[in-house]
Amino acid sequence: MTDCRKKVTVATLASLKARGAKAVFATAYDYPTAVFAERAGVDLLLVGDSAAMTMLGHANTLSITMTEMLVFARAVARGAPRTFIVGDLPFLSYQLSNEDAIRNAGAFITAGCDAVKCEGGARVADRVRAMTDAGIAVMGHLGLTPQSIGQQGGYRVQGKTLGATRRVLDDALALQDAGAFAVLFEALPAESAAYLRERLDLIVYGIGAGPEVDGQLVISHDILGNFVGDIKPKFVSRYADLDTIIERAFRAYAEDVRDGRFPAPEHCYAIAPAEAAALSAATLDRA
Ligand code: KIV
Repeated sequence: MTDCRKKVTVATLASLKARGAKAVFATAYDYPTAVFAERAGVDLLLVGDSAAMTMLGHANTLSITMTEMLVFARAVARGAPRTFIVGDLPFLSYQLSNEDAIRNAGAFITAGCDAVKCEGGARVADRVRAMTDAGIAVMGHLGLTPQSIGQQGGYRVQGKTLGATRRVLDDALALQDAGAFAVLFEALPAESAAYLRERLDLIVYGIGAGPEVDGQLVISHDILGNFVGDIKPKFVSRYADLDTIIERAFRAYAEDVRDGRFPAPEHCYAIAPAEAAALSAATLDRA
């Protein structure tokens, strides 16, 4: 755990890796979650384009826009000023040109993020170089890359052979050469992630990539139990059942309203007895 009182920077993350201390990484999209995660000592927060699914109810990540992402990013930055915040560049916000990549990455930085993340390897290396040349810290994302769901044929484990893992390595090296400070591996066998980490200078984070990485990312809705949908990756571990807790609270509230138990006297504003009498007399007058 990093010192909660100090701002987490790229240097802090590099020193965690150098010490062999695992970084704790989770997604956040809103102010309260960011506040609670920072209080709990989470090192990095990803404002992921998974917000499309977790927060907006879309079937995949492809349709979320920069405008929507920036609303989430600003809320998280307000809630977790000392945590390292990564803004996730959404589909088509960086693929088209270096100018787009710099403009949209810059918008995350001015919204309060410390870095951006983009998906892909050699084919986005030119964009990564443009962003790092503009002074922006960039995290790559390889393995299962949800913005390429069409090409990858769904949410499938990647890097299952030596050949496939070597191709991931070539992509990671292209990102390293382009100036990225870190890479996130998603849905790789643990052995493949370990092979890759040994061959890279980058800080290596994993989600569904086993233990041999420098830090673990989770989707906060997966660990909190409030994801509404039927995707349940093998690597998900639940630490709470917010879905049940929230639904139970709404049911109890609804019953109290319908049965007249809410609001109770303690939920009502007081008034001087003379004013209350005047009000009820005035009400009677009208009747
Ligand atoms: O958007 C996101 O949360 C992500 C993770 C799935 C890696 O990119």
